Amino acid sequence: MKKVAVLGATGMVGQRFVQLLMGHPFFKLVDLCASERSAGKRYKEATRWMLDAEMPEKVADLEVKRIDPNLIDADIVFSALPKEVAKNVEPKFAEAGFIVSSNASAFRMVEDIPLLIPEVNPEHLELIEVQRENRGWDGAIITNPNCTTIMAMLPLKPIYDNFGLRRVIVTSMQALSGAGYSGVVSMAILDNLIPFIRGEEEKVETEGLKIFGKFEDNKITKAGFKISASCNRVNVLDGHTESIFVEVEEDCSVDDVKEVLRKFRGLPQKLKLPTAPQNPIIVREEEDRPQPRLDRLQQGGMSVSVGRIREDPVFDFKFTSMGHNTIRGAAGASILNAELLLKKNKA
Ligand SMILES: NC(=O)c1ccc[n+]([C@@H]2O[C@H](COP(=O)([O-])OP(=O)(O)OC[C@H]3O[C@@H](n4cnc5c(N)ncnc54)[C@H](OP(=O)(O)O)[C@@H]3O)[C@@H](O)[C@H]2O)c1
Repeated sequence: MKKVAVLGATGMVGQRFVQLLMGHPFFKLVDLCASERSAGKRYKEATRWMLDAEMPEKVADLEVKRIDPNLIDADIVFSALPKEVAKNVEPKFAEAGFIVSSNASAFRMVEDIPLLIPEVNPEHLELIEVQRENRGWDGAIITNPNCTTIMAMLPLKPIYDNFGLRRVIVTSMQALSGAGYSGVVSMAILDNLIPFIRGEEEKVETEGLKIFGKFEDNKITKAGFKISASCNRVNVLDGHTESIFVEVEEDCSVDDVKEVLRKFRGLPQKLKLPTAPQNPIIVREEEDRPQPRLDRLQQGGMSVSVGRIREDPVFDFKFTSMGHNTIRGAAGASILNAELLLKKNKA
């Protein structure tokens, strides 16, 4: 058993970490950390618990700690910190010998830091050795992509492998929980949608190319296709939905696409990692699915549901993809990364 801590444990993603780590077969949650506002309080006093299951009793009375490597008795820290805080804090933990499995965007695009979806690019974990050599760290930082990136890149993986990709357009309809607890005020979003999420489109357009990149000569050579993104905030609690338009390199039919999506399994499934869903991609045939309220909790919230796969008169085909943003898109993704790391003896 590895001892783990959550940094940013009181926030939307932090709460999911706490929930998903309860009873985990590899990880024992020992410390919860947050800002100076929360430090010193009991977790149940510091946290506005927003999940629909009760706060686990085991953590309710734990004292929330300040974010300081000297105060934490863990091997791995899961980071759900805001970007600016993560930028400053995560390297200190890696330097002090911790494995940092981060949700924050601060280091995702840094050359020697893996940006992982374990089903898509597990070989990028090799960057850890490069990172340790470059920086003299005993620990390491690994990151998972932005939530919108994950819901697009997971279904694009078998398409990329089988037919190649030329151009991809992603239009997202993103849930409120993706903005954090105080992210979007109710008067702005009720009876409305907001066609702008700061920094989001750039993340989707660049992260995918690193994820699909080749690890060679100790670095990642980015993939050559093009991604264009348009991101919108909608009045849904959890679950990001995306309309994805794809132009491929080799001719394929809609049935070919459905088949490769259905058959797709990755390394986490082979290794039977505890957080890995049996089907990373679920293909739906109904004319009006996937929908966030109905499909976001498929296989513990770790599957991405894909439907409406059809031909497109401008691109080759298009489909709708949907997944749980704080589970598959954040805490669950980070935990799966750490499970893979452990199985590969890198933690
Ligand atoms: N929500 C999603 O779907 C999602 C998906 C993927 C990635 N992410 C990323 O995950 C991270 C967390 O997002 P979130 O939605 O959970 O945000 P959030 O609800 O606003 O929570 C932020 C957390 O960070 C702590 N924090 C804030 N300022 C701090 C400081 N100066 N020092 C130490 N701790 C501080 C907060 O503690 P206090 O309660 O004490 O203030 C809280 O625990 C962000 O980087 C976000 O971009 C989120």
